[in-house]
Amino acid sequence: MSRVLLTGGTGYIGSHTAVSLLESGHEVVVVDNLVNSKIDSIREVEKLMNAKVPTYIGDVQDEQLMNRIFTEQHIDVVIHFAGLKAVGESVHKPLEYYQNNFDSTLVLIRTMLAHQVNNIVFSSSATVYDPANDPERVEGMPVGNCSCPYGWTKFMIEQIIRDCCHAYPQLNAVMLRYFNPVGAHPSGVIGENPLGIPNNLMPYIQQVAVGKLDHLNIFGNDYPTPDGTCVRDYIHVCDLADAHALACDYLLKHEGCCQEINIGSGHGVSVMELVTAFEKANNMKLAYQFAPRREGDLPIFFANADKARELLGFKTRRSVEDMCRDAYRYQQKQSGKE
Ligand code: NAD
Ligand code: WQD
Repeated sequence: MSRVLLTGGTGYIGSHTAVSLLESGHEVVVVDNLVNSKIDSIREVEKLMNAKVPTYIGDVQDEQLMNRIFTEQHIDVVIHFAGLKAVGESVHKPLEYYQNNFDSTLVLIRTMLAHQVNNIVFSSSATVYDPANDPERVEGMPVGNCSCPYGWTKFMIEQIIRDCCHAYPQLNAVMLRYFNPVGAHPSGVIGENPLGIPNNLMPYIQQVAVGKLDHLNIFGNDYPTPDGTCVRDYIHVCDLADAHALACDYLLKHEGCCQEINIGSGHGVSVMELVTAFEKANNMKLAYQFAPRREGDLPIFFANADKARELLGFKTRRSVEDMCRDAYRYQQKQSGKE
């Protein structure tokens, strides 16, 4: 058993990862400044798992706070989720994105090393891959040419971590490149409920399904794909969370590692297929219309998931239907509260 610190742990992926870690016998500590989440998610995790999760409300850029956490808690592994993540917003607020995402990482690694905490899992993204690659993304492919400051923060933080692993050989790192995380815990008590109008597909569908939004705009139906809509690799957030528990186990067994690993299902699903699966899983009709292409969207990309299977023993277990059913259940519970 080990104790894992989740920076950004009250967020969407962090809260689900807290559940997976507790299920697999780890202890969890959280630090989050609540800039994009509420403390309630961790309270729900505590109720669900009948466990205590020490939670520090504060900024990872605050070196004093991070020193206090590493002094008070005996941490074995850090999973670094904390960061700003909205693609469009990052174009308008590059300074905020570079400052928050870089400074939090620099302070975190500095304080980790000072306290001999040597294992880090970083939340990277499929967005680091050069768009010019073949659609099936393999870890060794070229990265860069990112489409927005958010993407560049992931690209650069990966490089910072590689440089630190080289300079401080005691540091072990796994950088998980997530594809498209969706869905919610089957209990419906934690999930993704963005503020304002959602940018991402599944949260938008969820809000149309409960009547909060009128209809879905499908951005483009003239792409060179089988049904003309874009293809992505959707992964159930609980599968993604399980990958983090496996990454912690891997780090604890492999000194001197520094690995980039795709976390996706390995299968492409089109926007239209996701809409149809949602309707079928929830026995309902979704209002949608076709709209012009969204700037910057690639027609198709999905993960090559071999490395995750080989190194971590990771394989997705939940289907697209599970993603749709769980996402809807969560949204229904949320709308009951609103
Ligand atoms: P989220 O916004 O729900 O969670 C991030 C958390 O970090 C939030 O709770 C926020 O309050 C916190 N935070 C931000 N800056 C902080 C700081 N300086 N100090 C303390 N807390 C801070 O997002 P998420 O979807 O759970 O994403 C988690 C991580 O995974 C992010 O780094 C994101 O970039 C990355 N990622 C997400 C996706 C996705 O589609 N959701 C895909 C690829 C990568
Ligand atoms: C999926 C598909 C849209 C909304 C983003 C980030 C990426 C990563 C994951 C963090 C696309 C279409 C969407 C809508 C639509 N995040 N769509 N109508 O763009 O693949 O990836 O989230 O690292 O960096 O860019 O995900 O959910 O926004 O879009 O038709 O209202 O759904 O055009 O084809 P994307 P998405």
